[in-house]
Amino acid sequence: MVETWGTLDSSEDVATTHIGINVYTYDAWMQSVGIPIHTGFFIPDLRTLELGWWEERGCHAAFIQLMGQEGIIEARVSEIPPGESLPPFKLSVDEVVYVVEGRGLTSVWGAGDSRRQTVEWQKHSIFLLERNRFHQFSNTRGDLPVRLLHYNYLPLAMSTIPDPAFFFNNPYDAPEVEGREFYSEAKAVPRADRRGRRGFLWRGNFFPDMQSWDQLDSNESRGAGGHSVYIQFPGSEMSSHMSVFAPQLYKKAHRHGPGRVIVIPAGEGYTILWEEGKEKIVAPWQEGSALVPPNRWFHQHFNVGGAKARYLALHPPRQFHGYTDESVGDLSNDQIEYADEEPWVREKFEEELAKRGLTSLMPDQAYKDRDYEWDYRTAAQ
Ligand SMILES: [Fe+2]
Repeated sequence: MVETWGTLDSSEDVATTHIGINVYTYDAWMQSVGIPIHTGFFIPDLRTLELGWWEERGCHAAFIQLMGQEGIIEARVSEIPPGESLPPFKLSVDEVVYVVEGRGLTSVWGAGDSRRQTVEWQKHSIFLLERNRFHQFSNTRGDLPVRLLHYNYLPLAMSTIPDPAFFFNNPYDAPEVEGREFYSEAKAVPRADRRGRRGFLWRGNFFPDMQSWDQLDSNESRGAGGHSVYIQFPGSEMSSHMSVFAPQLYKKAHRHGPGRVIVIPAGEGYTILWEEGKEKIVAPWQEGSALVPPNRWFHQHFNVGGAKARYLALHPPRQFHGYTDESVGDLSNDQIEYADEEPWVREKFEEELAKRGLTSLMPDQAYKDRDYEWDYRTAAQ
């Protein structure tokens, strides 16, 4: 006797993935909005990115879905015309906002207008919008549109609760978190880096100007005499860091997990992105550029301008940080030392500098000695 287990219906669409889920809930929702979705590896300038009218949110906006973000993080640009305010809105997940251009205010409040607070921001500010509170953005200048970059974990949240409407203007009012002061001065908290070196992270939900922020620690694992600040938003799992490094230098190639959006507050340079053994992609950057290193792709940052470069990395949830040996601080699988890199890397850097009448300031010794010690005092500030 032949036993039949279920039936095969040839009229059904063939699932293209082995688990039968072809489109993330977030992606289907994003496509339904009807505004531009920018894909690829980098955005040359967020200030001039093409936007479209989004009736429901009452503003011009666009989604950014670069390779390495999919299903994990949302990146979105919105614009506020001179002198105008956007409609109040409430999101059920925390959101980090970076001010690409302009000056303005954000008011936040809970149910029944409780706990109303207003934060005033300018170009290069970064702040957290607390989940489950209303917020309203206003442009306080009469002559210049505001452009904001929004970053949150909505795709992951929608994979968990595949009901987009749940996340927008939900009447749930979260209880106040004890001791969570919004928009007060950030505080330094001791931290240890991946190799156990002690430093500080800054805990706060408003940083007024990432272009002039000068509370930096030496970042001794990545070369180029670089300095960094680590930011953790209180009461949230969201975090960020910014690295600063001097002109005519470049950092070591490294790789990690997906979902980091890098935005440039200052500087001129480029980043090389590649998957091990594959073709390399060069992403040029300047103030207002954004890029995302895809999952486990090597990437390497080069400063070819005449001033310090700053890049601000917005982090995905820690589950996605994706360093192979993070727990033991061993970077050997995820970082390429200068001595081990392909000669092309150095040649390309020298060529790019020459086009600008500059020369490399990379010390020869850094290519010979894997334990080369940069002078972090002279490289600082
Ligand atoms: Fe990175």
